[in-house]
Amino acid sequence: MKSEKESFRELLKRKLTPGQIKVLRGLYEVVLSLPFSGNLQMLGRIYETDKGDENHSYKGVSYLDVYAKCLAPFRGKPISMLEIGVFRGESLRMWKRYFPGSNIYGLDIDPGTKQFEENRICIEIGSQADAAVLEGLAKKSGGFDIILDDGSHVNKHMIKSFDCLFKHLKKGGVYIIEDLGCSYFPLDQGNVREVWPGMKYNPADETLDNDRLDMDEFFKKIISDMDHRQGDILSIQFWSSTCLIFKG
Ligand SMILES: C[S@@+](CC[C@H](N)C(=O)[O-])C[C@H]1O[C@@H](n2cnc3c(N)ncnc32)[C@H](O)[C@@H]1O
Repeated sequence: MKSEKESFRELLKRKLTPGQIKVLRGLYEVVLSLPFSGNLQMLGRIYETDKGDENHSYKGVSYLDVYAKCLAPFRGKPISMLEIGVFRGESLRMWKRYFPGSNIYGLDIDPGTKQFEENRICIEIGSQADAAVLEGLAKKSGGFDIILDDGSHVNKHMIKSFDCLFKHLKKGGVYIIEDLGCSYFPLDQGNVREVWPGMKYNPADETLDNDRLDMDEFFKKIISDMDHRQGDILSIQFWSSTCLIFKG
């Protein structure tokens, strides 16, 4: 059955232009998701994001289970959301469906991801470690209600993005850092420039070393600020490999 489905997909790919495929996929996803527009877990399956799968779950709780709890209050509001890391655009399309009336921004270093731009999904090409790119995006959007970092997973990139973008998160907003399991090992060891899509666009001479101590220092600092009633962080939720930082 699976191979039949795959060969039908292959047939469509051969017969249709990329533009026609995009329109067809959009229609298919919209029709399929009609009864589930408020069900993030079902939308995750329809839009084929991996945020709800076993690799992104612990003790039966997936990233999408966590996000469904914490992000539901944003539904129905004209929010602006940024996801760092576009890949095939699956999660951006899921967010667009889950948040009607929203504007979804994606940032990716891979120029090939620009093809996933569509109505209400704006894609910027550049590095999450480039302050000028981040500032430009913040200016273009007018600030964000939700920021989700699912980009390079390089600790120093994630910290740089947070340092630059948190001030552009609106009061009451949420900043999410995903896949923190990666923060414990040097990414260079896994030949990630070849294995992970888009990683090769990071400068060749840049080390992708991850030292968890950098993240520990980062979290220690923001927790300490919060405890000393400094800054704008209202609360922090840690789940397995994902962390939600709420702005007050
Ligand atoms: C895990 S994938 C994103 C998956 C996507 N968020 C989803 O859930 O469908 C990681 C993406 O990060 C991008 N990336 C790698 N280094 C980056 C950087 N320095 N800045 C921005 N994006 C980067 C890659 O090109 C890749 O598309």
